[in-house]
Amino acid sequence: MKSGELFRVQGLGGAKTLSGSVAVSGSKNEALPALASAVLFGGPVTFRNIPRITDIRQLNSLLSDLGARVMMDDGGTITVDTSKLASAHVNESTARKFRASVILTGPLLSRMGEVRFAPPGGCLIGKRPIDVFLAGYEAMGATVRTDGEEFVITAPRGGLKGCDVIFRLPSVTATETLMMAAVLAHGIVRLVNVAMEPEIGALADFLNESGADIRGIGTPVLTIRGTDGTLLVSKKEHTAIPDRLEAGSFMILGALCADTLTVTDCDPEHLKVPIASLCACGVPVVVGKKRIVISGNGGIPNRSFAAANIRTHEYPGFPTDLQAPMTVLLSQVSGESIVEEMIFESRLGYAADLVRMGADIDVVHPHKAIVHGPSKLRGRELYSPDLRAGLAYIIAAIVAKGESVIHNIYHIDRGYERVEEKLKSIGVDIERVRG
Ligand code: EPZ
Repeated sequence: MKSGELFRVQGLGGAKTLSGSVAVSGSKNEALPALASAVLFGGPVTFRNIPRITDIRQLNSLLSDLGARVMMDDGGTITVDTSKLASAHVNESTARKFRASVILTGPLLSRMGEVRFAPPGGCLIGKRPIDVFLAGYEAMGATVRTDGEEFVITAPRGGLKGCDVIFRLPSVTATETLMMAAVLAHGIVRLVNVAMEPEIGALADFLNESGADIRGIGTPVLTIRGTDGTLLVSKKEHTAIPDRLEAGSFMILGALCADTLTVTDCDPEHLKVPIASLCACGVPVVVGKKRIVISGNGGIPNRSFAAANIRTHEYPGFPTDLQAPMTVLLSQVSGESIVEEMIFESRLGYAADLVRMGADIDVVHPHKAIVHGPSKLRGRELYSPDLRAGLAYIIAAIVAKGESVIHNIYHIDRGYERVEEKLKSIGVDIERVRG
């Protein structure tokens, strides 16, 4: 267990001395549903560019418990063979450790006719209900009951059936999960008011290449013609798309701490709004085909970035997962910025720690903060509250003067691959030490 480890970071005290290039890993949030989709296949499926992070290991462990054969190499390639799937009971203690465990329920229900699972755990960013998932299963004819602390969902005798599922809000993982459930259904399932994140489109493309019939990809309505229970067949390996959230975090770090920083192996198409937000602050961003360069950022004397308001929104809006890192940047620009968190109910809790570091931030409402900049940050002892805020703490610690110690880095390890190695390679003084 990594919980005893911590990061020691020596801050730059505002200097922009980082430089070089940093490569982005495969997307955690695309890799997780893609691996879960192996349940829809009758034989082995191979996935490439899978980040070596805790959440992926947890999902592999859940798949193995269900009877799948999971083979993983050191280079980010995983083969999953579910031909001998034996159980539809998602391991309770593992599932409680990460929210994405719920993604398995859709494929399991449609293949096995029943699924049993505990309410998923995850980051402390507010209530994470699963009512949209349950309403979708019921619309497809399934019955939902609870047994102790577990949910038991049972498909109708002939399998999940065609219907319209109206999402009361566009949940990302509910879109992925119900889309996967619908792939093996009988009839046509229309999912209305779904999320449109690129991870969903990548998953849908992969399923279509393997025999699924999903239309409307990239729009708020997905129409899925079920296979009547016929399992999918893998025709080629699936490569996870680049992690846009890791890329966005490095862009923000570059804006704050580098003269020139190149973020490679990314897809700038998925980052249009974060890039526009950085440009609105005056950050010199140059966009290439698979790279983003923060260029000549420290070379201009007295460069002072301008304030900009951000409001998180479902894709293609500003991602909630980049809200905390962006707030660190806004604490360093001149003027007042308003940050509005529209997706999660408790995603500004980290601001109190930035204030302890010297930032001037008023959280005026659970969904709204006013950031007054620029302020000088000082190194502090910090406890990472969740995955994305944890990375924001690392960025703040790099900006600050003096040393910071960041605890609870197991949150960060859930989603960022070899983060300290990548940061060291561009000049950050960071060490992982046993607490
Ligand atoms: C996905 O979570 C991501 N996780 C999150 O990233 C990301 O922050 C989030 O989407 C928003 O972009 C994965 O892809 C594995 P939602 P998800 O359901 O799907 C409410 C990370 O660090 N809601 O789109 O769980 C919910 O409470 C993580 O990588 C219901 O009310 O998010 C939230 O307010 C953190 N009922 C809103 O919808 C439901 O049944 C959007 O959440 C489902 C969701």
